[in-house]
Amino acid sequence: MAELVWRGKAIPHTSGGSLLTTGFYQPQTEQLSADLCADGWYNRLVHGERGSTLAALLDEFAGKVDLIYIDPPFMTGRTFKNGAQILTGDGISYRDIWNNDLDSYLQWLYETFYYLYELLAEDGSLYVHLDWRATHYARVILDELFTTRSRKKGAGLKNEIIWHYQSGGRARKAFARKHDTVLLYTKSSQYCFHSERIGQPRGDKKRNHMRKEIGPDGHPIWTIRSAGKLYSYRADSTMSVDDVWSDISHLHQKDPERTGYATQKPVALLERLLLASSEENDLVLDCFCGSGVTPVVAERLGRRWLACDQNEGALAVTRTRLLQETRRNIFALQSVKRIE
Ligand SMILES: C[S@@+](CC[C@H](N)C(=O)[O-])C[C@H]1O[C@@H](n2cnc3c(N)ncnc32)[C@H](O)[C@@H]1O
Repeated sequence: MAELVWRGKAIPHTSGGSLLTTGFYQPQTEQLSADLCADGWYNRLVHGERGSTLAALLDEFAGKVDLIYIDPPFMTGRTFKNGAQILTGDGISYRDIWNNDLDSYLQWLYETFYYLYELLAEDGSLYVHLDWRATHYARVILDELFTTRSRKKGAGLKNEIIWHYQSGGRARKAFARKHDTVLLYTKSSQYCFHSERIGQPRGDKKRNHMRKEIGPDGHPIWTIRSAGKLYSYRADSTMSVDDVWSDISHLHQKDPERTGYATQKPVALLERLLLASSEENDLVLDCFCGSGVTPVVAERLGRRWLACDQNEGALAVTRTRLLQETRRNIFALQSVKRIE
């Protein structure tokens, strides 16, 4: 099997810490309390570096996370500043500076993927959101982890989703870069996937070389002949979503969803992923939660969640967003206590 090698490649050995709870936010209240709900479950918003946090989560959650979405730094070499809406903190959302050292970025990605693999359930799904700078490296690393470590058939890449958007400027000496890539990996061929939940109405618009006709039951249908076979689809049926997504807009400057946290992803993107790859009450994890889009969507869709970020501003924005949700479960604020 092909393997990606870099200077300093090594299996991570972050010494596990423990998670320290500083308080609970009960449903329907914005007051921090010391009590836990009767059924014992609580979602978690962890302030911590991803290595120590994921290592600390392993004790309780190894093999138990149903869906992971991560949107890590892309190795842009940039420092991302907060928008004017965020008044607290040092004005920085996060730094994506690696001193131009690809080796250290790759080792960092490898460690992240390593822990996430351990946390992912045997029938779970891992979504990794990157762009042209690192997706190709991530794929080779993930191929290695998923195919050498899984004992099950069908482990590995399921999709390379292209999220195409219109934002920012236009390059003069290259084609304008207007897409991110979201990779979907699973540990086996047994995983949750509901294309019917996210399908688009076929509608009246002509696609490909389809012909519109009236079907035997009097309803409009679209037909197409391919390799001698006639395919027909009712106009009121749903089309399964393909792997190029141009129908989800990035967040515009004045978008009401915008929190001021840099590189915030739209709710619609996370809704599609969570609806497709998880069931109600499933456990969802995002260890680079930023503005909190993943836990917010998880709450709305009735999923349980674990979210983490090392940036205090990210935690503050996420907490505020969660507290604004009308239907919300109990969540704990936690930090990682290192064991020396
Ligand atoms: C691209 S942003 C995530 C944006 C998020 N998906 C959203 O929609 O708002 C990356 C996040 O990773 C966090 N981050 C970067 N390095 C980290 C690390 N080593 N451990 C934990 N969080 C980290 C940053 O603070 C930042 O919030």
